[in-house]
Amino acid sequence: MAAYHKHRMRRLRNNAAIRKMTRETLVTVDDFIYPIFVTYGKDVQDSIEAMPGIFRVSIDNLNKEVRNAYDLGIQSVLLFGIPEAKDSFGSDSYNPNGIIQLAIKEIRNTTPNILIITDVCMCEYTDHGHCGITENGAVNNDKTLDILSKIAVSHVEAGSDIVAPSAMMDGQVAAIRSSLDQNGYVDSPIMAYSAKYASGFYGPFREAAMSAPSYGDRQTYQLDKANIREAMEEIRLDVEEGADIIMVKPALSYLDVISAARNRFALPIASYNVSGEYSMIKAAAQNGWIDERRIALEILTSIKRAGADMIITYYAKEAAQWLSKTN
Ligand code: PBG
Repeated sequence: MAAYHKHRMRRLRNNAAIRKMTRETLVTVDDFIYPIFVTYGKDVQDSIEAMPGIFRVSIDNLNKEVRNAYDLGIQSVLLFGIPEAKDSFGSDSYNPNGIIQLAIKEIRNTTPNILIITDVCMCEYTDHGHCGITENGAVNNDKTLDILSKIAVSHVEAGSDIVAPSAMMDGQVAAIRSSLDQNGYVDSPIMAYSAKYASGFYGPFREAAMSAPSYGDRQTYQLDKANIREAMEEIRLDVEEGADIIMVKPALSYLDVISAARNRFALPIASYNVSGEYSMIKAAAQNGWIDERRIALEILTSIKRAGADMIITYYAKEAAQWLSKTN
């Protein structure tokens, strides 16, 4: 008797009920974090060419955007700010009346129960577009830490629930943790962009956030696409420095990194299904080449299956609607 007579794997695939009962990975709306771009000005709702369905909104239009997500069951948003004025020190990033601080307050007032996560970085605020303070064309790590700490404190002061440092400076989690603690914010968690790769997949985001570096690239601070051991070391250091949630970014080309991190670390893992990953599906779908719903849900499932606990995704709203129809 051949082995397959005893073990016929198809027995558990025979109908929808049995397939559901034996399904290993479940994607739900609770997993989603929805990124929102907030910009200066009045009554702005600019579409972003490479990201159909995603907009840059001004503060007076923010409430509508957040409400809409919240009403679909999304419990958490990740905010990016585009300031009116940029300078070489990114000083608007920690201005108590800066774009992101005002956005946080607006959401707190209008949708008080939604979880607000804020990106802590300088690239949207600097005129050169780099993620830190530059000197002779290079990013100075330790001077940048002071600014990142100020940004984080200003976000929490405004009402942010979780700060998410994404600048990939060494020691940024420790610096932010200690500043938050000194200011009494011992209960504010840090979601660390621990393993953030220098990736071509961020292209559409940089259009959306107007944050492309004006010279050079980010390879002196973001990870090399070829490296996974180095990613484990970045994560280990962030855990030691006091990260509460660790992140792998991008998601799709780095599922092995998510999986390795899942096996090694106990902390919750977030993964960022980034702009380029979204644009590729949208573009192919608009051409009628793929089944958008099917492929988007397949990718979200794969990120979860690899080991992510939460997914930052521009598909959050659409996926929430699709999931509520199938379940
Ligand atoms: C800021 C930041 C970036 C993204 C998130 N935070 C851009 C970058 O590092 O250039 C990318 C997100 C996306 O592509 O969706 N440092």
